[in-house]
Formats: sequence, structure tokens, C-alpha cells
Amino acid sequence: MNKEAMKAPEELTTAEAKAELKRLAKEIAHHDKLYYQKDAPEISDAEYDALVRRNRAIEGLFPSLIRSDSPTTRVGAEPAAGFGKVKHLHPMLSLDNAFDREDVADFIGRIRRFLGRKDDGEIELNVEPKIDGLSANLRYEDGTLTIGATRGDGAVGEDITANLKHVAGIPHKLKDPHPPKLIEIRGEVYFPHDAFFTLNKEREKAGEPVFANPRNAAAGSVRQLDPNITRSRPLKFFAYAMGATEGWRNEPKLHSEAIEQLRTWGFAVNPEICVAKTLDDALEFYDEMTKKRADLNYDIDGVVYKVNNIAMQNRLGFVGRAPRWAIAHKFPAEQAVTTLNAIAIQVGRTGALTPVAKLEPITVGGVVVSNATLHNEDEIERKDVRIGDKVIVQRAGDVIPQIVGVVDADRKNRGPKYKFPDRCPVCGSHAVREEGEAVRRCTGGLICPAQAMETLRHFVSRGAFDIEGLGSKHIESFYTDGLIKTPVDIFKLHHRRGELEEREGWGKSSVSNLLNAIEARRTVPLDRFIYALGIRQVGEVTAKLLARHYHTLKDWRHAMLAATKDRETPEYQDLVNIDQIGESVANDILDFFDEKPNVEVLDALAKEVTVDEVQAPRAADSPVAGKTVVFTGALSKMTRDEAKARAELLGAKVASSVSKKTDYVIVGEDAGSKAAKAQELGVKMLSEDAWLELIGG
Ligand code: IVH
Repeated sequence: MNKEAMKAPEELTTAEAKAELKRLAKEIAHHDKLYYQKDAPEISDAEYDALVRRNRAIEGLFPSLIRSDSPTTRVGAEPAAGFGKVKHLHPMLSLDNAFDREDVADFIGRIRRFLGRKDDGEIELNVEPKIDGLSANLRYEDGTLTIGATRGDGAVGEDITANLKHVAGIPHKLKDPHPPKLIEIRGEVYFPHDAFFTLNKEREKAGEPVFANPRNAAAGSVRQLDPNITRSRPLKFFAYAMGATEGWRNEPKLHSEAIEQLRTWGFAVNPEICVAKTLDDALEFYDEMTKKRADLNYDIDGVVYKVNNIAMQNRLGFVGRAPRWAIAHKFPAEQAVTTLNAIAIQVGRTGALTPVAKLEPITVGGVVVSNATLHNEDEIERKDVRIGDKVIVQRAGDVIPQIVGVVDADRKNRGPKYKFPDRCPVCGSHAVREEGEAVRRCTGGLICPAQAMETLRHFVSRGAFDIEGLGSKHIESFYTDGLIKTPVDIFKLHHRRGELEEREGWGKSSVSNLLNAIEARRTVPLDRFIYALGIRQVGEVTAKLLARHYHTLKDWRHAMLAATKDRETPEYQDLVNIDQIGESVANDILDFFDEKPNVEVLDALAKEVTVDEVQAPRAADSPVAGKTVVFTGALSKMTRDEAKARAELLGAKVASSVSKKTDYVIVGEDAGSKAAKAQELGVKMLSEDAWLELIGG
């Protein structure tokens, strides 16, 4: 180091400062390159931080000397744009929750039934704390970390590789002479408690906003465009799962072995993880963790039980977004008492009136809560919640806070009983409650601004058209000003470019960005299109089932319109016969098609966008792809559920009853009327073994 570099920043002359900034820019860029691109840092994090701090200090004293390539404006060795997107090789799934011992016993029961285990043999579980942080997916190619991403929507996350390289517990290279060709490692990034408190103290002193909890601090630190900020935060990581793998010699047979492997590769692995031989052992682990929780230096919100045998995990597979072979046993909720200031009524996409408690803000388990759900009319009645009452507020994990009950119901001068409105607070239409329904709904349909806006919000949301840059606030103001009334108008916005550019807060480039984002979505697959329509009970999973069954928008539309005519039509029978659809969902779909304005919107949309055909997965390489099959009678090699799940995985459609459209009926023992029907209709029948042979074992 030269002499100037040793001087304190305040002692430097202007010329010296200039030279010093030049030298620092070069030196920091050099270390960035070693760190980010070569994975071969020459100096410690502390030494690097000292260089950055010195650079900042000099820039603070001589702002006119800040260089265009200053390390404080340049971001590591990465481009300073937003985050790139990364498609996970295997989707990142979530976990179902269990809230008590019975739920856990049910979980084991479901596994036994699915696998057809009639014996009393225990199912070995791997038990782990559930870390309350931010999940990350790390891709290693030939043992080197190449991509690190956030979970995102489970399919696509944000590329935060540069940031994750600063997180302790994530090796840049796997310690293994023969690493897999490719492997995805999953785990949780978290903010240790002690560091969290220190950080918040510092932020408070500096007049900066504090983080609500360690989880937000972790998310805020990792989702930073400047990796130097991530670097300055002592984030940590626990690895707990693997995703896609390729070319791996020693694939583990047990999850506990996989955990051991992660440890030897150099990942931080949670020290509490262990194997539970029995359900009782697993529940004992839960009790232990409940006690230990307060002493840990990281947040946990429950424990996770995973079937230890990986072959068994593979047989169990997934339902929707969660594995059948794992569950999160959550800790009970945290509670606090506060005043109920008001009850607001929100109107949702389907017109449901939902009461929301407006509370005197209070901290519940480290998070400030000022709203809580009251569910519905009956709930308010049952709990007799009145404005002005002191109420117990409860929060569990990510769940919306709830009102448990009133604590001062006996006080004098208590307010009047709450009367639920029978008109929509937004459009004034009647709000009615159908016989047997818990919710009251606004009857205004699309004339109700609340419903129209919620429909639009749903339409542009992630799982639907996923239009970036058309946030909730924009929808509201565009709707109010008449720019967008129905989803179709979104695709006509480009005709109103001039008008948009005139709007406050908008300019040429932001309007261009928005219009480009819309153009990018002019082609969608059928499942997203169906989901985007916002039909009651048609979530992403059901939309996929429909798309895989009908393949094209034309065929789906045609079949639905035919089915609305009469419940005896083959189209109706075909719809309710799709496994997992059933009458209630079918009726909601048909109610949608029964409303002319809905069909008009659908048709107008179809003119604006191209809807891609959807095929069943793996259609090409499976002999049963696209075939409709029905299982009947008792199977001996696997349960009905497992057989169904496997058939679906191979692209077959599993139906619940036999019709002319059925390709195969798989006949188990003691098959009854379905086998007879197959015989009558001349549908091909297969024994269980013949079926297994057909699908390859
Ligand atoms: S396993 C397919 N193990 O919890 C199962 N997840 O609610 C993949 N999480 O998205 C998850 N600790 O972010 C697993 N020991 C643990 C976990 C854990 C925390 C998170 C993870 C997941 C979420 C599901």
C-alpha cells in the first residue's frame, strides 16, 4: 500500500484523495472479479470490507471526486439491472401443515393407506426443525456453484447467485473428488437472532427503518441488487433437501444419508436433525423443539417430518404443490390483546363480503399487526365481537392474523351488537346469502367495482397472465379512470399510449415497459388462460386438469357450452368424470358459462391473445399418455391411490366411471359393475399385471 492509503481520509489533500479513489476502484474491482468470477478470493471478507469502507469515507468527504466506475455505484461484478429469472430444474414445492398430533397421525395414516401397508410396522421419519427464513435453490455443475435463486413462484425464481455466494454455509465448490454432474440443493437462508438485534439497533440509530423480524431481514438482505449489502450482513444457510440430480454415483437411499452427504460436501446442516423410528419418537422431537426454540439463535416455526426412505418418497409423490411424504408440524400461534377499532368489509373477486378487523396496532410474536380476519358473518355473531372491544389476536406463521375472542365482554357501556351489512359497501347492490352458504355475496357481478378490480388483479397475477408492472394500485387507478374495465381492455391499452404517457407518475419509458410486458403475454398456455378467468373453485391445479383434458380453448369452450344445456349431456358426464373435478366444481364452471357477459369477455379475449394447446405431460414417451383409464376392484401390488397417481404421471387420464371413451379398465379382484359395463361397451380390460407390464413395471 502506498503512503496516501495509510492516511486517514480526513487528512488527504484533494489530489491525494483523487489518486486514492482511483487506486481503490481498481483494487476493489480486482477482488470482485476474483470473488465472483473465479471463486478465488485473495483477501478475507474483513479486509475487503475495510477497502469498501475507506472508499465510501473518502467519497463522503470529496463527493465531487466520485468516479463513474466507483465501487459504491458499480455492483460487484454483476450488471446492476433487476434480477434475472431462473427456472428451477425441479419445482420447489411447499409443505402441508399439521397443527396437532391428530393431524400428524392422519399424515402417517394417509401414507400407510397410499402404500397399502396393513402391517403395524412403523414408517421411519427424518425429523428437522422448520427454519423460518427464505428458501433458496443452489445449482452445482461438476461441483461448482453456478446458479443460486429464490423460490419465486416455485417454478421460476430470481437469480441471486452473487448474493448467495456471501452467505455462510454455502460452499462455492462441493468437497468431493467425484461430484455429481449436476445437482440442485435446497435450503433456508436465515438471519441469526443476535445479529438481527444488532442490525436493528444500528438502523434505529442511523434513523433507518428497522426490520420487523429476522425473516424480513434475511429477505431484505438477500434480495439486494448490491451484493456488498448482502456481504455486510451475517446471513447463514441450512441445507435440507435436493432437487434435480444428474450423473451421481452415490445416490443416497435414505434422506438421513442425503443430509450426511450435504454435510460432507461442506454445507451447514441443522444440528438438531435426527431420525425418528416411530410416530411417538417424532412427536417427542416436536416437544423437545418446543422447549428448545427460545434458546436457538434462529427462528423456527415448527418441525418437518419426512419419510426417510427415498424409494418410498418416490412412490408417494406429490399432490398439488406438496409432497405426500412430508409435512410441517407447526408450533401453536402467538397471541396478544388489543382494541378493535372498526370492522371493514372487503369485497372479493367472487363478491364474497369478508369482514376485516381494524385493530389498534400491536406486536404479536415480533410482527406488528393492525388487521385481522373475522372470516364471515357467523363468526362475528358466534364470538359476539363488537367495535371498541378488547380482543385476543392470534398469529401463526404466515397465516393472516385472526381474532380468537373478546376479553372484556362483561364491561359496562359496551357497544351494540355488530350488524352485518346486507348491501355491498362498494356498489350498493344487495348482498345475499344462499341457503347453506357461510358467505354473503354482492349480487352486482361485474358492475361492482370491487369485483371487477379483483377480477383484474387476479387476471394479471403470477399464476395467471403474470403481467409485470400492472400492480394493484395501477389496476385501481386505471379502472377508476375507465382505461381498463375488463381483462380484454388490458390488451387494448396500446391504443391509448398517448393518454397513458400523460398520466401523473408515468412517462414514455415506463409506459413502454408496461406495454412491452403486456405484449410479452399475448400468448398463454390454456391452463393459465382458464385459471385467469377467475371461475369459483378453479384454482391452478383444477385449471391444469381441465387444460390437459380438453387441450384447446375451442374444445373446452364448446364442451362447456354444450354441458350448460343439460346435465344429461355427454359433455357434462365427461366433465364430472374427470378425476378430482366432481359436481360442485363442474357446477361452478357451468355457472360461469351460463352468464352471457362472461362468455363475451372470454371470446373477446380469445381475439386478443393466442392460447396455446396443452398436452398431458410426457405424452411422447409413454404408452398410456392421453389414454383414459378406470381402475376397479382391489389391486394387489399397490393401492388404488398409488396406481392412479402413477397413471397420471405417465400422462393417462384417470376417470371414475366407464364410458365409451374409456381406453382401458384395469380390473382388480372382486371387480363389480364397472367390469360388467366395460364388457358391455367392449372396452379393453387389463389385469393388474398386464397393466404394469404395459406401463413398464
Ligand atoms: S423440505 C418438498 N425442510 O418450509 C419439501 N422445508 O412450508 C421441501 N422449510 O418452502 C421442503 N425448513 O422454505 C423443508 N427442514 C426443512 C425446512 C423447510 C424450512 C421451508 C421451505 C419450504 C417451506 C414449506
